[in-house]
Amino acid sequence: MAKVVVLSGAGISAESGFSTFRDSDGLWNKFKVEDVATPEGYARNPQLVLDFYNGLRRDLYKAEPNKGHLELAELERDFDVSIITQNVDDLHERAGSSDVLHLHGELKKARACGDPEMIIDLTEGEDIGINDKAPDGSALRPHIVWFGEAVPNISLAQDLVKQADIFLIVGTSLNVYPAAGLISYVRRGTPIFLVDPKPVSVPHYLDVRIIAKKASEGVACFADMIRHLK
Ligand code: APR
Repeated sequence: MAKVVVLSGAGISAESGFSTFRDSDGLWNKFKVEDVATPEGYARNPQLVLDFYNGLRRDLYKAEPNKGHLELAELERDFDVSIITQNVDDLHERAGSSDVLHLHGELKKARACGDPEMIIDLTEGEDIGINDKAPDGSALRPHIVWFGEAVPNISLAQDLVKQADIFLIVGTSLNVYPAAGLISYVRRGTPIFLVDPKPVSVPHYLDVRIIAKKASEGVACFADMIRHLK
């Protein structure tokens, strides 16, 4: 089976009701990144950070995967599909995708400040409280990779991209590294597709086939195109 590797971003969850980060109505126009998505912000005001992620987590329980997520899950009928996502929601998994690698963490998990390997699943409706402790006694924090922190899964992701026979980028502005740098790990000659309703800048030396549509339609177009490649 041909190997399809996907890099997804906030745009694929937009039609499930989630704000992206850098669109005009994006999260970073409502919250300061340095306050809610950095270790310094968490040290300065942990309650603000916990409230931010507790709010996103509550929204996630009310959200459903959209056609973009579902089409990617459907692709597994005909292809060996691996999804690398920058998203912290579990909508790919809930749509039925079986191989999802999270680069920036997961909203429905928490972790010990004292041990980044100590990851705890949160139950539905469970917030992270300011005095919550992990089993090792250290404070419990969101299992999110903040700006300035290491991206533990990046080398796994790079290895996955090198295996791609077909590479799809969907719903990301390719603004944030090292995730955005994954495009440079695609083997020469591998077809690259990009689904986004707006223009996204990509390295000029790459031949990227643009599908200028929202994910709910664009991923279906992508699926049709690659089924005809077979
Ligand atoms: N379908 C497809 N793409 C869409 C849709 C849609 N319905 N709506 C918006 N988009 C596109 C936008 O045009 C934009 O190119 O999704 C992209 C979203 O870009 P960002 O808001 O920058 O989100 P993302 O690229 O995922 O951000 C990367 O930045 O803040 C950090 O950790 C955070 O993982 C995030 C990372």
